[in-house]
Amino acid sequence: MSSVTVLCQSTNCPHGNPPSKLECPTCNKLGIRGSFFCGQECFKGNWKTHKIIHDLARPPATTANPLQDGTFNPFVNYDYTGTLRPVYPLTPKREVPAHIPRPDYAISEDGVPTAEIKRSGQPPRLLDTGEIEKMRTACRFGREVLDIAAAMVRPGVSTDEIDAVVHQATIERNAYPSPLNYRNFPKSLCTSINESICHGIPDRRKLQEGDIINLDISLYYDGFHSDLNATYPVGEIDEDSKKLIRTTRQCLDEAIKVCKPGALFRDIGKVIEPIARANGCAVVRTYTGHGINDLFHTAPNIPHYAKNKAVGTMKPGMCFTIEPMINLGSNWDVQHWPDNWTATTVDGKRSAQFEETLLITETGVEVLTAGKSTDL
Ligand code: MF3
Ligand code: CO
Repeated sequence: MSSVTVLCQSTNCPHGNPPSKLECPTCNKLGIRGSFFCGQECFKGNWKTHKIIHDLARPPATTANPLQDGTFNPFVNYDYTGTLRPVYPLTPKREVPAHIPRPDYAISEDGVPTAEIKRSGQPPRLLDTGEIEKMRTACRFGREVLDIAAAMVRPGVSTDEIDAVVHQATIERNAYPSPLNYRNFPKSLCTSINESICHGIPDRRKLQEGDIINLDISLYYDGFHSDLNATYPVGEIDEDSKKLIRTTRQCLDEAIKVCKPGALFRDIGKVIEPIARANGCAVVRTYTGHGINDLFHTAPNIPHYAKNKAVGTMKPGMCFTIEPMINLGSNWDVQHWPDNWTATTVDGKRSAQFEETLLITETGVEVLTAGKSTDL
């Protein structure tokens, strides 16, 4: 129940727009707040202009789905930076069988990762051989799940359908999907399309020919997290998008090549930014790579841009991610949707990302999440 008073929304209320209790039932159903009228007279009198807002809230009818189907854009009044729109309602929260061990934030009401916060400020953990073996397994499972998800990418498939398959594939491996309830994130993977940089929420939007989509998989198995992502074309994509994806993969691959004992975390951005710039792209600064082990996000913090002030030196036994987010054009800024998750470019241009989980060995680096296509 809301105790906020809303004035009559009529543009020509004969009663001087008093506080009103009669809510437009269509707006209520669509999740549009504040559509109150002082009486039937004002509601009916404004119907012609008012009903336009309903159509704006609904996604456009497509040939595959010519009828209105109860889906809607939850943030009608938000000034989107591009053309991507969420398609709500989200599906209900997916359950994880009780026998599967889960991280602390999975069980808490507020999704706060308490152990991560407790250990913040501590230096990066060095894993022993037993722990490294567990990281290898978690990362192998992560790669398997990403490949399963990637095989679904084609026009007409919704990101929620991908979420369902990822969730199932994860729990089949007796693993917990790390994003689920992390700081209250509602789904089991992140799906970031076109101008979305990262942390997109799987919803009912169907992939369209020409889209690019990043699938970001993380899972928790036997006490350890893995984290990897990749960007894929949906059908035929334009040349700029192809170049963006190629450039982003190259940024990650070149950054991995400089990883070894004694290398500085701050030098990773020094490798990435010139590659991005040479290809007419910008490096996102808001999000970074991170240590990963029994905690999902922990020390070290790894910026992807040049001239950063990251502290620390790589040592054998450290596990961390590199996950550059690269935007077409020169703008690296981020703007969030009102869902407080989806990060988008501010100019609506496209963004791509690739991520691997790495282990520093005695002699160099092991890409724990490596797929068959990674020629390192
Ligand atoms: N996988 C993302 C990362 O690379 C985090 C996604 S979990 C979320 O850090 F809850 F933050 F979405
Ligand atoms: Co990550």
